[in-house]
Amino acid sequence: GAANIGVVGLAVMGSNLARNLASREGNSVAVYNRTYARTESLVTEHPEAGFIAGKSIDEFVASLAKPRTAIIMVQAGAGTDAVIDQLAERFEPGDIIVDGGNANFQDTIAREQRIAPTGIHFVGVGISGGEEGALKGPSIMPGGSEESYRTLGPILASIAAVVAGEPCVTHVGTNGAGHFVKMIHNGIEYADMQLIGEAYDLLRTVGGLPPHAVADIFARWNEGPLESYLVEITADILRHVDQATGLPFVDVVLDQAGSKGTGVWTVQNALDLGVPVGGIAEAVFARAVSGKAEQRAAVRRLVTSRPEVQKVSPEFAEDVSAALYASKIVAYAQGFDAITAGAEKYGWNIHKDQIAKIWRGGCIIRARFLDRITQAYTENPDITTLLEAPYFAQAVADGEAAWRRVVATAALSGVPVPGFSSALSYYDSLAAERLPAALVQGQRDFFGAHTYRRTDRDGAFHTLWGGDRSEVTA
Ligand code: 6PG
Repeated sequence: GAANIGVVGLAVMGSNLARNLASREGNSVAVYNRTYARTESLVTEHPEAGFIAGKSIDEFVASLAKPRTAIIMVQAGAGTDAVIDQLAERFEPGDIIVDGGNANFQDTIAREQRIAPTGIHFVGVGISGGEEGALKGPSIMPGGSEESYRTLGPILASIAAVVAGEPCVTHVGTNGAGHFVKMIHNGIEYADMQLIGEAYDLLRTVGGLPPHAVADIFARWNEGPLESYLVEITADILRHVDQATGLPFVDVVLDQAGSKGTGVWTVQNALDLGVPVGGIAEAVFARAVSGKAEQRAAVRRLVTSRPEVQKVSPEFAEDVSAALYASKIVAYAQGFDAITAGAEKYGWNIHKDQIAKIWRGGCIIRARFLDRITQAYTENPDITTLLEAPYFAQAVADGEAAWRRVVATAALSGVPVPGFSSALSYYDSLAAERLPAALVQGQRDFFGAHTYRRTDRDGAFHTLWGGDRSEVTA
């Protein structure tokens, strides 16, 4: 075989990744698709790529140089297992099967375990950046063994986005670590998108600005600390005018946001890990609420008068930007907490500074701000939360008053800000001297004898609530 890398599954993501690979010095790319027609059209449309087309899986496997390395780019789920089996039957020990789809990391762990006895490496790789990223340079989050990374690493580095001379790829950890971190990336993506949505809603509803003026504000924000791909495209989208009606595009789109599930996975796993990721969860829930058309209609029918929109100062946009930044910091702090907890539970040695680094380019959440996260974890990998890193502590302190004004204004004006307000409550929970958890624990002890600890002495205690209310040691 002559190809150092193969791609199986030639839908848009697979084709683009194959073309990206082929465009880089040193790669020779074999391609295979279940229906040959698609392979044929890719090969004829892109003669410059010099693809080696496999008509059958056997032909494809025969065209790969050893160690054979093939990236599967098919719809996550059962399709992936079928292709893995086809390859595993033909591969030899030391060969590498890569799953580049948005697989659930638990599936990746199980697949790796299933393949391991054959001596073939199975590597789950998170790839972010959508269709354009796949073609021009994505952010790549590979899991799998160290050994497989020696072969795979340079190939992935050849196609990854590059920031400050460094490719956006790092060996995240073993088995499912790459897909786990990709999942967290998507959870954070949900939060980022929701927070941006809330900022837009406030500027429009409370600030009274038309979409193109809000677009200008986002474009301005994109020159400062909020600079990011999502802020940039938000300005674009808000400026866009629907060609059929001449109305702002954002006014003709049905206000219901879909989802393919990775945000839900993030929250499900965070719940299992006991990590509070309220900012991410609210973003997932906000999409769900948006889709509850009947409930929304029912409540709208009943609500005859809405709160009066608050009058705001000309600095309102600055306040909103501060609220957005502070809430974003909270969402990332929560996402990185989930990474810490996942790494501990699954035995991965994840370098969080490196994760922030490879998210600076190629992926959907790419942002200037990620440099600060890298800096925070480089200075001290053991911080208990990003919020204690000096830069972030200062940034939140600087924005705090504005953040509170924005959340209060939204509440008084009847504008839903689940992301902003949950982030602020999270911050206040961490900052509070005392939490009402003391009362909750007391309730647990009252009805269930679940015991409590005291502030002044070690041990577990129980009050005889049904008796003389004396305290006993549990
Ligand atoms: C990426 C995106 C990508 C995709 C998600 C969108 O990193 O390139 O996250 O994975 O766009 O599937 O997710 P939802 O459909 O759940 O919004």
